[in-house]
This record gives sequence, structure tokens and C-alpha cells, in this order.
Amino acid sequence: MSRLIVVSNRIPGKAPAAGGLAVALKKTLSARDGFWFGWSGAFAETPSRDAKFETIDGLQIGSIDLTKSDHQSYYAGFSNSILWPAFHLRLDLTDIHSHWYEGYRRVNVQFAEAIAKHIQPDDIIWVHDYHLIPLATELRRRNIRNKIGFYLHIPFPTPDALNAIPHHEELLTDLLAYDLVGFQAQRDVAAFNEFIAHEEMYRQAGGTPFEIEMGNTTLDAFPIGSDPEAFAKLAASPNAQKMYKRVERSMNGRAMILGVDRLDYSKGLPQRVQAYEKLLENNANLRRAVHMIQIAPPSRDTIKEYQVISDELDSAVGRLTGRFAEPDWLPITYVKRAYSQASLAGLYRLARVGLVTPLRDGMNLVAHEYVASQNPENPGVLVLSRFAGAAEIFHDALIINPFDTDETAEAMRLAIAMPLEERKERWESLMKVAQTYDIDNWANNYLAALTGDTQSAVV
Ligand code: G6P
Repeated sequence: MSRLIVVSNRIPGKAPAAGGLAVALKKTLSARDGFWFGWSGAFAETPSRDAKFETIDGLQIGSIDLTKSDHQSYYAGFSNSILWPAFHLRLDLTDIHSHWYEGYRRVNVQFAEAIAKHIQPDDIIWVHDYHLIPLATELRRRNIRNKIGFYLHIPFPTPDALNAIPHHEELLTDLLAYDLVGFQAQRDVAAFNEFIAHEEMYRQAGGTPFEIEMGNTTLDAFPIGSDPEAFAKLAASPNAQKMYKRVERSMNGRAMILGVDRLDYSKGLPQRVQAYEKLLENNANLRRAVHMIQIAPPSRDTIKEYQVISDELDSAVGRLTGRFAEPDWLPITYVKRAYSQASLAGLYRLARVGLVTPLRDGMNLVAHEYVASQNPENPGVLVLSRFAGAAEIFHDALIINPFDTDETAEAMRLAIAMPLEERKERWESLMKVAQTYDIDNWANNYLAALTGDTQSAVV
């Protein structure tokens, strides 16, 4: 088997893994030889050209330090204040400073230089996420002829949103330097094709469109998943049970409604709290009979828009509490901090309703983990946004439009009232889907498509 080189902004075991990416790739890499490469999490006075290698948790990890100002332009700037909001269709939240693009490219060049020295002829290179779109271009410039694949963990934007990104033509050309571009969902492949159709329309109208040369690049959807068996085991483990019992006691027979999200404006958190407020407003019988827990660890908090969403959520929770709390009952517990996977698995298992209601999301692995953690004899109900990639596969969730807080409130009510038989039927179907689209199948299918070895494709 060829060696595999995984490249992503974050590496496992160093900077805290807030998202699903680090967790997702660890398993695949440990089954193969090769290494994982990324930013060390540290800053240097001058950009480092040579990777440091170390073994972390049984994995070979290569990393480089970045200068503070390059990191600012590349990570907080171009990646998270331009690409992230635009790809999530929040053009109102983009913050465009033209010099950030230079920093973004500089870091991609730095990555390419540091990695190129360690690549052997048969290695397969798998690059992850929007921070590193130009990496294949930069590796090709350094005579790397290996198979290079890219996987986008976030949604692909609509033509107008893409057009609003400075240098988007170059970024599209960069994508086409890969052999395979993988997306989370069919909707993302469709969005890419829509951009091509949009440019064609422009050409026919007499404009000068951006000419896209597809060359040998293949595009396809590879929905990411979790490790449902491991999560099911974890949810029943003593560590998870500790959290389960503790919170069960405090619920005192009330139905628990749970949300677990990075504190990000794409997650629709104020809308979710508003929907819960409507649930309590319209159903007086549910007051005192339910309790919502929202766990939202802070994320990217040097960026202004993240401070704004944090303040917005503080006030939404404050308003709700002031309106409905009683001296001996609180409608919501809002916890702004991260928990271990075991504690989360315990909470997922206890939750009668799992709320995964982002305004737009690549996949959303919380949906997968919530399903995997349920007790088969008494499962909870997944309320899922139609704008999460997960909605393309989890048809037996209660699918909602997160912008419609009446609809979300009604789905919460249905979930709480749902008879055991229906909960079981829905859950069994969802669990099958989680097992079909598990993390091993995802990696195997992607790598089979990248290497052309479709014999070993699973789904
Ligand atoms: C999303 C992105 C990942 C990222 C994660 C956490 O899931 O797709 O690439 O690692 O969020 O965000 P952060 O900025 O803390 O790495």
C-alpha cells in the first residue's frame, strides 16, 4: 500500500481539536504508513522552511511554525474572515483586506516547501479544507507529480458568493491542480457545476467569463461520517455514564433537549434559542417539563464576528431565562466550554431531543455522534437542519428549516411527544445510515477514487 500524507491546518494532539477533522482522520492514517502535516500551533520570528517530525499518539506528525503576522493573514484573515463566511453564504460577515490573500498564499508556499522534501514517488497526498486550496499548485511547481487529492469539509458556495471572494478565479484554478476534489454532499457538487453554468450564461450574453479547464480533475461527493460502533460503546462506558447519571439526577424526570456546537455564526444558535422560546410560549404544559442544555465552546475568538455571535447568544439566553425561569426551574443551561468525547456521549444518550440546526454546514458530525450514542431501547429524536450536509442522508430525522423558528419549535414539540415505537423506527434507520457512511468507508472510498482503485470502494 502506498504511503499516505495527510495535510491540514491543524494537527492532532497539539492545538485543541474543536471540530471533527482531527478525530476523523487519525484512524485512517494509523492504518497506513506516512505522516500528517500541519501548523505546529507555535509562532516563529522568521518562517520555518523545515518540518519538525515527532510521534504523537502513535502517529508520525510533521509540522512547521508560522510567523504571527502570516498566521493572522492566512488563518484569521483570508481563511476565516473571507472564505469561511462566503462559503457559508454570509457575505454580510466577510471582512475583506487585500493583503490577507498574500499571507494566505505565502503560508501555502511555506507548507509546500516543507512537505516537498519528504515526498517519495509513490506517496498519495490528501489535503484538507479551505485553508490549503493552493497547496497542489505549489507542490506541482516543485515538481511533485504524485496523486494529490483535496477534500472540502465545508459547503461549496453559490456562484454569487464565489464571485464575491477576491481572487476566486485563482482559487478555482488551484482546485483544478488536484486529481480529485471531494465534497461533503451532492449539493456542493451541484454548486460547483452551477458556477460553470453561470460563466457559460455570461459568455452567451456577450461577457468575458472565467474559462474553467477541468483537465483531469474529478469532482464527487464523499459524505464524511463518524465511528458509530466506537461512539455507541463510549456512550455506555463508565466515564460517559458518570455524566449521564449526574445530569439525569438534575433533570428530575424532565425531558432534556441538547445542542452541542462550536460557538460559530453558521450554527444558528440564536435562532435555536428563539425556537425554544416559542416552544415554551406556545406550550405552557411543557414549562417545567423540559430543560435545554446548550454546550458551545468558544471558537476563533480573536475575530470580531465571533465576539458578536457570542454576545448575541448571551443576550438570547438571558432574555429567555428572564422570561420563563422560576425560582426553582431554569429553562436552559448554557455552557461555554468544551467537554471530553465521553462526557458528550453520555449527554447525547440522555437527550430526548438532539438539536442540530445550523444555518449552513458541511456535514455536521454531531448529528452522527448523537445517533450513535442512543440507547436502542429508548432512543431520542434528531431534529436536523435541511442545510446541514447530514440532511442528504439522515432522512428519518425531523428535518427543519432553521430560519423558520415556528417550524423548529413544532419539531421540538413533536420530538418530545413522539411515541417509543416511532422513535425506535426512526433511530434504527438513522443508525443504519450512520453505519453505512462511517469514517472508514469515507476514507476508503475517497482514497480508492483518488488512486483509481475502485475495486476497494465500499459504499
Ligand atoms: C470546521 C473546519 C475545520 C476546523 C474546525 C475547527 O470543522 O472544517 O477545518 O478545524 O472547524 O475550527 P478551527 O478554526 O478551530 O480549526
